[in-house]
Amino acid sequence: MLGDDEFDEPEDEKLPGNVQAVIKVAKLSSDNDLIGHEAEILRYLYPEGAREEKFYRYLPKLHASTKIRGRAANVLSYAEGFITLADTLKACPDGIDYRDLAWMLKRSLVAIGYAHERGVVHGAVVPTHILVHPTGHGAKLIDWSYAEAGGKNSIKAYVGEYKDYYPPEVFKRQLPGAEVDTYMLAKCCVALLGGDVKTNKLPDTVPEKVRDFFRPLLLESPGARRLRGGAAAWDLHDRFDWILKELVGKPKYRPFRHCPPAR
Ligand SMILES: Nc1ncnc2c1ncn2[C@@H]1O[C@H](COP(=O)(O)OP(=O)(O)OP(=O)(O)O)[C@@H](O)[C@H]1O
Ligand SMILES: [Mg+2]
Repeated sequence: MLGDDEFDEPEDEKLPGNVQAVIKVAKLSSDNDLIGHEAEILRYLYPEGAREEKFYRYLPKLHASTKIRGRAANVLSYAEGFITLADTLKACPDGIDYRDLAWMLKRSLVAIGYAHERGVVHGAVVPTHILVHPTGHGAKLIDWSYAEAGGKNSIKAYVGEYKDYYPPEVFKRQLPGAEVDTYMLAKCCVALLGGDVKTNKLPDTVPEKVRDFFRPLLLESPGARRLRGGAAAWDLHDRFDWILKELVGKPKYRPFRHCPPAR
């Protein structure tokens, strides 16, 4: 925990009592712009003073953006009881049931759909950036450092560990569209369902309708993805609901059991 005197600048906003926070600090001062950019995007998507409700539930809450010994830092609400999809993948290397994936996917599509509606592409939808609550079934899309707003710039950097999750247009420095995020989310789902992230092959135990759902999202060409409906997160959300209705009927609550303990 850092003492008050370690902040270069006084906080202009006090944390409300009993809030657990994560302090994300740039490793190098040359990364200050990434932290500052995340703060800018979050202030736009989750306005100051807004309560944690509606779409805001799917985003981290920024309490303050400051500097600690010359390095930029964002103070964010700690998402208690949440685990990352990377934790889940580690605990379940053979994959999880598609009915468990269902709510993780749907909540992530809401977060992405809201951002897209406001002209923001997240640009780094990888397993370490999706937090899920195993019993509450909440989700949060975190790390908005790579996001692009307004469609004027390409995605500037990628997370090396997850290179296979990025669509080709990111490496070609093309302007990112909504289909960048839905492609990356589909890759996360392929991994979670026990599939092969390089070839997109899913196990035969995954119902065919679910396998067919992901195929157009993962096409190489962004234009083909858009044409085949792999870009509109809201539509994908509704389409997946229909598939679930056909496969399982009325939705039934399933606590996520095969998961690592919450941190
Ligand atoms: N608000 C939060 N609540 C709980 N855990 C969080 C929160 N924000 C981040 N984390 C945890 O910290 C990890 C890294 O967060 P993030 O991706 O925002 O930072 P980063 O600078 O990219 O970190 P790294 O360089 O370690 O990848 C997440 O994968 C998650 O485990
Ligand atoms: Mg990160």
